[in-house]
Amino acid sequence: MPESGGSASLRHGEIVRTLKILGIETSCDDTGVAVTIDGYQVISNRVSSQVEIHRPYGGVVPEIASRAHIENLLPLLIRCLAETDLSLPDLDAIAVTYGPGLAGCLLVGVSLAKALAYGLGKPLIGINHLEAHVYTPVLDRAPEEAPPFPHLSLLVSGGHTALYRVEDWNTLTLLGRTQDDAVGEAFDKVAKALGLGFPGGPIIQKRAEGFHGEWIEFPRPLLHQGYDFSFSGLKTAVVNYLREHHPDEDEITRITASFQRAAIDVLVKKTLRAADEQGLHHISLVGGVSANEPLRRALTAQGQARGYQIHLPDKKYSQDNGAMVAGLALHSLKKGRLADLSLNAKP
Ligand code: KG4
Ligand code: ZN
Repeated sequence: MPESGGSASLRHGEIVRTLKILGIETSCDDTGVAVTIDGYQVISNRVSSQVEIHRPYGGVVPEIASRAHIENLLPLLIRCLAETDLSLPDLDAIAVTYGPGLAGCLLVGVSLAKALAYGLGKPLIGINHLEAHVYTPVLDRAPEEAPPFPHLSLLVSGGHTALYRVEDWNTLTLLGRTQDDAVGEAFDKVAKALGLGFPGGPIIQKRAEGFHGEWIEFPRPLLHQGYDFSFSGLKTAVVNYLREHHPDEDEITRITASFQRAAIDVLVKKTLRAADEQGLHHISLVGGVSANEPLRRALTAQGQARGYQIHLPDKKYSQDNGAMVAGLALHSLKKGRLADLSLNAKP
């Protein structure tokens, strides 16, 4: 661990150094830059969303996304430093997402991080995007509120749907994952099929809010089998229903609500079964889809009713961000797991 940088404070009579880490996230369509102190206190978190740029295409266009990261990164970094009253030499380490994600997008973040670490003579830390999402319930919370190890984590995003047994922050044992579409991808594709726009998750959530009628019973694939998920069948069932029914506005609301209910039903039931069978009493919900209010409510209510403690990130940390990268990096730094300038994107 380097001796330069950081600041010292007195706690219980002993000198304690605080570690300020810069986190850079460019794996998909959100550019994130953040600074955390000691792994959990977020003192700046800047995210530039590219939703408006990709909206006309109905999905993320990788080439456009990498160009936007190039334009966004330095202004975000300057704003982060300005609002924390820090200058670059005050940072103790530079952390960056190296994968998984879109190759061109990852390279933008990795290149900047390497240049900063080299120029400043600071440690460089490569962060796995999925491990960073799993870390999010810790951010802005007291350290003693963190889920203890091992715990169960349900990661739900546009690119991933997986259940992990979290042994420690850098050791995730995969219990199951989607065999086809990620759940966020299913939200996005169903919204597109209904002509509702992009990204589908928040649009479907909003549209479904007003529904109080009779549900359409869409399929719940693999509900009682293993820990793997499958959302492509559910999505296809919605598309087939659309072809047969030519829905009016009320019927579209009913479809969105029924689709969302089926997806949540599968996610919650399988997660709670995994917790039962694995003997894990703490469950976290992370990733872009963890911003979904009905999913948060269902997992919390059904989980607590069965005696589990549910850990949710603040919604601003559900979407991709630099704070989860910087926060998790503290643990890599403590273990001496540093990268060198050969760090490359691993899509
Ligand atoms: O984690 P994230 O920001 O990026 C990836 O790594 O994929 O997740 C983006 C996904 C998109 O599919 C988006 O539709 C979904 O998260 N999402 C939601 C909600 N907010 C974002 N899905 C359901 N309900 C929401 N409120
Ligand atoms: Zn993500």
